[in-house]
Amino acid sequence: MSNATILVTGAAGGTQGQTGRHVSEMLLAKGVPVRAFVRKIDARAEHLRSLGAELVEGDFLDYHSVERALQGVSTIYFAYPVQAGLLDATAIMADAARKAGVTRLIDMVMLVSSPDAPTPRMRQNYLSERIFEWAGVGAAHVRATVFFENVRALTSATIARDGSILLPWGSDSTVVPLVSAEDVARVAVGALTSPEVAPGSSHPVIGDVVTLRDIVTTFERVLGRKVRYQEIPDEAWANAALARGLNQHAVEHLSKLWQSIRTQPRTFGVTDTILELGGRKPKTFEEFVREQQAAFKAQPAAKSA
Ligand SMILES: NC(=O)c1ccc[n+]([C@@H]2O[C@H](COP(=O)([O-])OP(=O)(O)OC[C@H]3O[C@@H](n4cnc5c(N)ncnc54)[C@H](OP(=O)(O)O)[C@@H]3O)[C@@H](O)[C@H]2O)c1
Repeated sequence: MSNATILVTGAAGGTQGQTGRHVSEMLLAKGVPVRAFVRKIDARAEHLRSLGAELVEGDFLDYHSVERALQGVSTIYFAYPVQAGLLDATAIMADAARKAGVTRLIDMVMLVSSPDAPTPRMRQNYLSERIFEWAGVGAAHVRATVFFENVRALTSATIARDGSILLPWGSDSTVVPLVSAEDVARVAVGALTSPEVAPGSSHPVIGDVVTLRDIVTTFERVLGRKVRYQEIPDEAWANAALARGLNQHAVEHLSKLWQSIRTQPRTFGVTDTILELGGRKPKTFEEFVREQQAAFKAQPAAKSA
């Protein structure tokens, strides 16, 4: 394994899967030097520095900050969050990486990436992959399904409140392929460091395949309480998500994803990539819920001073 520095974007970790933070920590634990690309030097960045990372402040949409971050780097982990601006960020990174002589770029995209994919974000992901390939920077693509962390964000508040799950996911036999963001990061680390990853290759990542009924019974078994799924209309879900602060781009992507999941059932299977590139058996949804039990329980009211 080369000991050249790897630039990790999204390294602080945000509100989705925090894959950049996991990737940084896993690389540092292997002794691989990391340059952590962060929006600002805050406590999350300082934590990475304490583990040995070099910090660089920048913005995906600010060309010169990306150019500076790439100085002396030949390998990049690129994960642009589910928010507007992916194609601008891709074009900036592709151009700067080509100029810097980058030879490997691992991008984090979604499971379905094609011009005919069901959501606008997935179609952008396809174009983003192609732009990186044209740039000749050794691009390979980690294509991940919906993160367990996303299910936690969608259900934890209502389960904690009254044991309900309010989603437009159709009947309880709807099949949902899922994965732990940590396993996705593990696959990305394998792709960043393995000599066997070919430019242009794509690596699908599914860690568990469950029905909505399985999700409900898993919550009941682990949390020891009654949990009830209630199907709600797409519009009600979108309005509630916007009111909770989810950005418009993510709401449009997820609304189309839910429609596709419930109306165009496909057969999914757990992929070998987590074991082969990540070196571990995939985490199951049940293991994730057991680790995260506290998130699904009502928090005791803070005592007043
Ligand atoms: N969520 C899912 O279920 C799912 C499923 C499949 C694939 N994916 C893919 O996973 C990726 C999401 O990555 P993630 O889970 O690691 O995201 P995340 O946890 O939300 O982290 C996003 C990071 O990007 C940083 N960031 C945001 N805007 C930035 C900007 N303009 N310039 C510089 N940094 C910026 C954030 O910094 P601050 O926190 O400081 O803003 C944060 O550190 C996406 O590519 C998505 O397509 C997600």
